[in-house]
Order: sequence, then C-alpha cells, then structure tokens
Amino acid sequence: MSGLLSSLLRTKPLAVLRTESETSRLRRSLGTWHLIGLGLGAIIGAGIFATVGTAAAGDAARPGAGPGIVLSFVLTAAVCGLAALCYAELAAMVPIAGSAYTYAYAALGELVAWIIGWDLIIEYAIGNVAVAISWSGYFSELLRGLGLEIPRWMATDLRTALATPELLASAPHVLGVPIVFNFPAAAIVMLITWVLVVGIRESARLNATMVIIKLVVLAFFVVVGAAYINPDNWHPFLPNGWHGVWSGAAIVFFAYIGFDAVSTAAEETRNPAVDLPRGIIGSLIISTVVYIVVAAVVTGMVPWNELHTAEPLTVALSRHHLAWSMAIVAFGSVAAHTAVLLVFQLGQPRIFFSMARDGLLPPVFAKVHPRYRTPHVTTILAGVVVAALAGFANIEEMVDLTNIGTLFAFAIVSAGVIVLRRTHPEAERPFRVPLVPVLPTLAVFACLFLAAGLPAITWGRFGAWLVVGLTVYLLYGRRHSRLARSRTSDSN
Ligand code: ALA
Repeated sequence: MSGLLSSLLRTKPLAVLRTESETSRLRRSLGTWHLIGLGLGAIIGAGIFATVGTAAAGDAARPGAGPGIVLSFVLTAAVCGLAALCYAELAAMVPIAGSAYTYAYAALGELVAWIIGWDLIIEYAIGNVAVAISWSGYFSELLRGLGLEIPRWMATDLRTALATPELLASAPHVLGVPIVFNFPAAAIVMLITWVLVVGIRESARLNATMVIIKLVVLAFFVVVGAAYINPDNWHPFLPNGWHGVWSGAAIVFFAYIGFDAVSTAAEETRNPAVDLPRGIIGSLIISTVVYIVVAAVVTGMVPWNELHTAEPLTVALSRHHLAWSMAIVAFGSVAAHTAVLLVFQLGQPRIFFSMARDGLLPPVFAKVHPRYRTPHVTTILAGVVVAALAGFANIEEMVDLTNIGTLFAFAIVSAGVIVLRRTHPEAERPFRVPLVPVLPTLAVFACLFLAAGLPAITWGRFGAWLVVGLTVYLLYGRRHSRLARSRTSDSN
C-alpha cells in the first residue's frame, strides 16, 4: 500500500524538467508580442460575443447580472489575475509545453499531475467544442446576411434537434433515422487542425491577423454603440443584487479562459523567463479592459433583460437598425472565434505531448513531424475528436463543463506555487508572485467560489470525467510512467 502511495506522490525533479526544456525538439520562434497575441487569440471569443448575453439577462436556472455584468467582469478578472500571477511564476520557472500538468508533476506528484492533464482535456477540447458551436452560429448568420441559408439540420446540436420536431422532419433520413449534424462546427475544427500541423510559425501569423481583426471590430462596436446608449438602461444597476453578479461571473469566466494557454507554447518561446509572464499577464489585462468597455456599451444600448440571446452584440445593433454594423460585427466575431479555436487546438496536443513524453500516455502521442516539427499525431487526434463532438453537442453544457474544469486547474496551479516555494525554495524564479502564501491561497478559494456558482449537473459530469481518468491512469499511466521506470529520486 505504501508503495502505491509513494508512486502516486512521486514528483518530477525540476532539473529534469529544465533539461527537457533546454533540449526540446520544438522550434523556438515566439517572442513577447507573439505570446500576447496567442493569449488574446485564445481569450477574446465566444465569451464576449455570445455567453455575455445569458450572463446579463440570466436564464431559467439562474438570475442575470443586468448592467452589473460589468462588475461580474471585474470580479472574474480579479480571480483570473490571481491565477495568472501563479501561472506566470511557474511558467517562467518550468518552461515546458505541458502547462498546469507539468507544474503539478513537479509540485504535487504524479497522480495530481495526471488528474490535471486529464482535466485540461476538458478546458481545451471541450472548451473548443463550445467555441466551434458558437462559431457555426455566427458563420451561419454571416452567410444569411449574404443571402445564403444553411439548412437547419446541417447547423444544429442534437438536443435542440430532438426538441424541435419540424427540424427533425426537414432533415434527410437514412434507414428511417433523421441525420442532423453541425457541419460548419466540425469543418472549421478540421481546417484549423491542418494549419496547426503545417507549423507553429504559420499558426502564430494567422492568429495575429485574426487578433487584429477582432480588436478593431470590438473597437468599432464600442464607437458605433456608444452613440445609442440610453443611461436609463443602466438603472437599476443590480436588478438581481449580488447573486446576479456572482452567477454572471461564473458564466463570463469562460470569456477569460485562454491566458493560461500561453504557457503551453513555452518550449516554442525564445526567452521563456521574460516572455511568458509578459504574455500571460499582458493578454489578461488587455482583454479585461476590452470586456468592461464592451459590456458597459451593450447594456447601455438595450434593456438588460432583452439580452438573452447567443448573439447579444449584433442583437443590440439590430435594435437600432444598424444593418451594416451588424454584418461587420458578425464578421469580427467569426474571426475572433477562429483565433480561439486555433490557440486551443494548439494547446491540447502539447499537453498530450508532455504526458506521453513522461510515459503516462502511449509514445505515439509524443511524435514530432520530421519536417514541420509539430506534434502532428496529437494535433490530428485532438482535431478529429473535437470536430466529432462539435457536430452533436450543446453549447451551454459545454461552457459549464469547460468552466468547472478550468477553475479546477487554476486552483491546482495556485496550490502548486505554495508547495514549490516550500519544497524548492532555492530554485531560480525569474517571476515571483507577491505575498506568498496569501495570494495563491486567495486564488484557490476564489476559484472554488466561482465554481460553486455552476449547476449541480456540471459538478456531476466533472466528477464522472475524473473517475474515468483515474481508471485510465491506474490501468496504463502508473505502469508506464518514465519516472517510475528510471527510479529517479523524488528531489533534485
Ligand atoms: N475565452 C474563450 C472564449 O471566450 C474561450 O471564446
């Protein structure tokens, strides 16, 4: 029994991690601005263009924040800011592609590391399923503006289809079974997968273009929308009190997810000690400012209780009959979603890559393409799985699941800072979280507080996912762990 316990608690020595970083086969070509671009690419997407509507207006299960959604954004930014400081310290200290998974391996042991790696699949893959579905919605709207209508059975999720008899009736039938599938959602994921296999530098360039488009389009929305603000719409400011702000915060958390994805590009960063903290914190600050301004404008343009829609920004514009502006914002939204998809599809394979390098997943997951030098096997695998799920899944369920998984990862990373400060006080830390252990402890509790705002069914699904992961670990990872086989001692 004690043998099992010690194997579950074995930690990966920091010296080994540093050697892995220094001898990485991935191409080092990214600097601070590339990383800020990657961060903004991952952060600004479905959250501000879509889920902000439900957060402001509420739904059957939760109260809306109303104009106080601005405070939800401030509250969530504070929680993410604490977690971002922790990510920055660990990313600069252990610049390895695996992100939270790697930090947990060094600080909290193999079992927790495995759980986090497994959990990150939720953040990256399930998060991208949600973004792909939202992408499909905006893309369909964009095509509609051009006079092209995609049949509903080709751009819907299964739950909606089952609840809409006329939609099922309009779908083609094979052997009596109606065929419904979200084709645009699946197709965009496959297209992005191809870009990612071809190379990290090309991916960063494409990302930069889309980041510029989305920032310009959001600025355009603010300038156009500001002229239509009616201050009466901001009263009452907190129609559902602080409860509304809190449940709004649990939803808009999705809008901030992504700054942590910067850390998965650590092995492709030229000067990780400097560039990673700047990339993580810089992208979070910029997106916070953008969100607060956009949220203030959209709630000033229309009464908050009319915002329960998947396209709140274009709905606000349509209330004022701004057809051209709607088309521009829909286009920017498609670009924004595409960038998020790109960065998350980039992050997921790099986590698999790190886990396979450690022996916790089969070696094929760590393969690097001889010419493109990208982890092509895991990139394609992640692409196929996300595309398939995006073809059927429901967006709200995916957003909630992503939020709980990510909050869990943030909490573990924050705890990891405290543990590593104790176990490795001497290690070089190019970036240090101030006021340790107070700030990381606050970060852990703040993440749990936000997660408590999510529905019980989400907690249940998350628990089930972790149980499956634990089983996989006991059947495969524990036996094949490279650390176990090399019998490296626990400390360096
Ligand atoms: N933060 C990302 C988005 O809002 C996941 O799309």
